[in-house]
Amino acid sequence: METMATQDHLQRVVQIARGFYARKDRAHDLEHALRVREWGKKLAEEEGADVIIIELAALLHDIGRSRAVEKTHAESSAGLAVNILHKTGYAEDIILRVKEAIISHSREAGHEPNTLEAKILYDADKLDFVGAIGLGRLFTMAGVQGWPLIGENSCETFYQEKICSYHNYLFTKSALAYFEPRFLYMEQFWQELHAERLKLSLFGQASSV
Ligand SMILES: [Fe+2]
Ligand SMILES: [Fe+2]
Repeated sequence: METMATQDHLQRVVQIARGFYARKDRAHDLEHALRVREWGKKLAEEEGADVIIIELAALLHDIGRSRAVEKTHAESSAGLAVNILHKTGYAEDIILRVKEAIISHSREAGHEPNTLEAKILYDADKLDFVGAIGLGRLFTMAGVQGWPLIGENSCETFYQEKICSYHNYLFTKSALAYFEPRFLYMEQFWQELHAERLKLSLFGQASSV
């Protein structure tokens, strides 16, 4: 199946994936999948994993988000990915490994990544939720969901409950090394945001004296 792992075939998968990513959900669009693919390639190179499995899994890992018919978006994406890869002509063993990675990129339904490729896909996906890109994605989601900046059910609570938890739940050392400086940048952003709010409240107190 060496011949299937060509740029032409990958390009076909990119074109098919493009049609599945919802235009309204810019936090989980094709650009997200392409960034996860680049992170995945980088981590695969450093961890000695099978790049083609990771590239295919990254491109297709969120295609089921807008049309989740199974329990979780990861399960829906995995089902759709299997059909796409069959139609594109990939071998059964590649398809099964891609499926396994996609199913466990989210821990929503208790699926744990067990293969190196699945662990790398999981980590690559989380690396797209830190740093300036991570903040951009967070606020993009907030615009769709109607979340305020802080308070109950807000950007800050999503950051604290989801993104902070990723810090303690990455599988590869390579990913952790990339995650940490980007996570620090986000921490500094929230500190700055609270400092600005505090200064504004002091302006208010001063003007009411
Ligand atoms: Fe996902
Ligand atoms: Fe994702």
